[in-house]
Amino acid sequence: MESDLSLEFLRVVEQAAIACAHTMGQGDRHHSDLVAVEAMRKVMDTVPIDGTIVIGEGERDEAPMLYIGEKVGIANARDGRPPSGGFPQVDIAVDPLEGTNLCATGTANAIAVLAASERGGLLHAPDLYMEKLVVGPSSKDAVDLDAPVAENLTSVARSLGRDVDDLVVIVLDRPRHEKLIADIRATGARIRLIGDGDLSAGIAAAVVGSGVHAVMGTGGAPEGVLTAAAMRCLNGEILARLVVTKPEHEERCRAMGITDFKKIYRAKELARGKQIIFAATGVTDGTLMRGVRFFGDGTRTSSVIMQNDPHQIRFIDSIHVAPATDVKIRF
Ligand code: FBP
Repeated sequence: MESDLSLEFLRVVEQAAIACAHTMGQGDRHHSDLVAVEAMRKVMDTVPIDGTIVIGEGERDEAPMLYIGEKVGIANARDGRPPSGGFPQVDIAVDPLEGTNLCATGTANAIAVLAASERGGLLHAPDLYMEKLVVGPSSKDAVDLDAPVAENLTSVARSLGRDVDDLVVIVLDRPRHEKLIADIRATGARIRLIGDGDLSAGIAAAVVGSGVHAVMGTGGAPEGVLTAAAMRCLNGEILARLVVTKPEHEERCRAMGITDFKKIYRAKELARGKQIIFAATGVTDGTLMRGVRFFGDGTRTSSVIMQNDPHQIRFIDSIHVAPATDVKIRF
């Protein structure tokens, strides 16, 4: 996989973010998601790859676009142009709008996001729940998904050289997390309850200075694989286990080649590719990226592009100028 594909993928997430940012606060999460999907799908076909969606909007019969198994990229462009030359085979995990409610309500940390790797480099995870524990580089060897909450937080605090009550832990605000929240509170650690968006939260946990030290609890498995791709680049860690409680869940796992339902995955197993690219653009203002800003003559976006080989993390502030405008660029 060519490293300069990262800038191609930047265009994809920027355009998805711009499209759905127009719907911010309109209260219709499905519409916000749809416009992000349509924009992402359109730009994806201009990327010089022979791509396959491995994590997307769902199975083929429930998602008209960006469905699992869909072929994307110039090599598969639907406009009838015959592909000329060989294109790298790339697997892609997408979440065109992570935090549909966040966008629909204009709340912080909605992002457009994708991860890519050479073929076979991303786990084909079913859209089930996943238990997750996400921490930054200093704490990556200090935690255990099955350890008591107090033990994990004591270890995280020690690895960061601070007290437990100086930690900030992000948890999705859900009834299923009642006991987890009580256990964290009992340690004295601080908690930030979020309505949605455990992927943005996970990225923040791996960036020193974000004010987030861990993410705990159960969220979507697709978001878990995307978090793992980010961890591969940020040197953080995610410990994760699929929540398989029904025969139907088992069937869905088997259909994706997963037979060990109790396995605890690390980032290296969820996103095992030699070459990982992770791209995200802020839709609404967030911890690490600002939301999309429209200013009449153009649009300003804030993104992060990360790669593990060559290993680089770029925070990118782009100004998209409307055609034929006498724009004035402000710092
Ligand atoms: P959407 O982007 O589909 O709205 O999902 C947002 C999200 O909050 C994820 O960040 C999280 O992993 C998952 O939903 C949690 O699922 P649930 O809302 O069912 O608890």
